[in-house]
Amino acid sequence: MKDSIIEIKNLNIEFSSENQKVVALEKINLDINKNEFICIMGVSGCGKTTLLNALAGFIQPTNGKILLKDNEIQGPGPDRAVVFQDDAVFPWLSVEDNIAYSHKIKSKYGDKEKELVNNYINLVGLEDFKKAWPRQLSGGMRKRVDLARAFSAEPELLLMDEPFGALDIMTKEKLQEELRKFWVERPRTIVFITHDVEEAVFLGDKVIVMTPRPGKIDLIIEPNLSKNRDMSIKSDSVFFDNVKKIRQRIKDH
Ligand SMILES: Nc1ncnc2c1ncn2[C@@H]1O[C@H](COP(=O)(O)OP(=O)(O)OP(=O)(O)O)[C@@H](O)[C@H]1O
Ligand SMILES: [Mg+2]
Repeated sequence: MKDSIIEIKNLNIEFSSENQKVVALEKINLDINKNEFICIMGVSGCGKTTLLNALAGFIQPTNGKILLKDNEIQGPGPDRAVVFQDDAVFPWLSVEDNIAYSHKIKSKYGDKEKELVNNYINLVGLEDFKKAWPRQLSGGMRKRVDLARAFSAEPELLLMDEPFGALDIMTKEKLQEELRKFWVERPRTIVFITHDVEEAVFLGDKVIVMTPRPGKIDLIIEPNLSKNRDMSIKSDSVFFDNVKKIRQRIKDH
């Protein structure tokens, strides 16, 4: 039995306007295994968001295809959840209702779903803020709501586009630890986009480095760090060696 849940085959994506054609992605071939935590990194404009949008089904390939569980992705679907850089919490819903959103729109919010949503609220440490409105939360707390909502939808594939990009370093590192813990406790297939090398090595079990535009896969690294890592791993020489290797590669582009 094959392990891959996603198969990206000869993916090309071009954008055309009257006076310009931009090749954003060229010949991307990649298999992603079930419950793998993959980080994709590369310089600004190399096509990371384009790749994520194609996985989400927001844009279609110019050539090639993407299979999710053997079915070609042709549009967005409930089997995928996306977390963007800006938080996407609904301001008119409480914390609890935001996290329960995917269940409530399916009119399926019984005891089982309620328990699941409660678990996620506790997991992100917002049990005292269940009834709060998003405007009463800090940026880091809203991001936690975003993460809990995405996890609680229990999608096959979680897509994250620089979700911590706008946060201060302390909040960012805390959320990186929490996301990693989330994933260890509730394994899921995650594709996480970032241009932060340390973030990629800390979070990912596989780090994919893209070339500058047109984006191609340049390097795949498996950092091989302990599964239950926290920020203390950053003083480990293996962590540092991985960061150094990726930085050098990007510098050589
Ligand atoms: N809708 C669009 N129409 C035209 N060109 C686009 C469109 N979306 C992206 N591009 C172009 O495709 C290339 C890749 O863009 P993309 O947003 O995927 O980069 P990125 O790696 O996510 O960059 P960043 O790190 O800055 O977010 C860029 O040259 C961009 O101008
Ligand atoms: Mg982007």
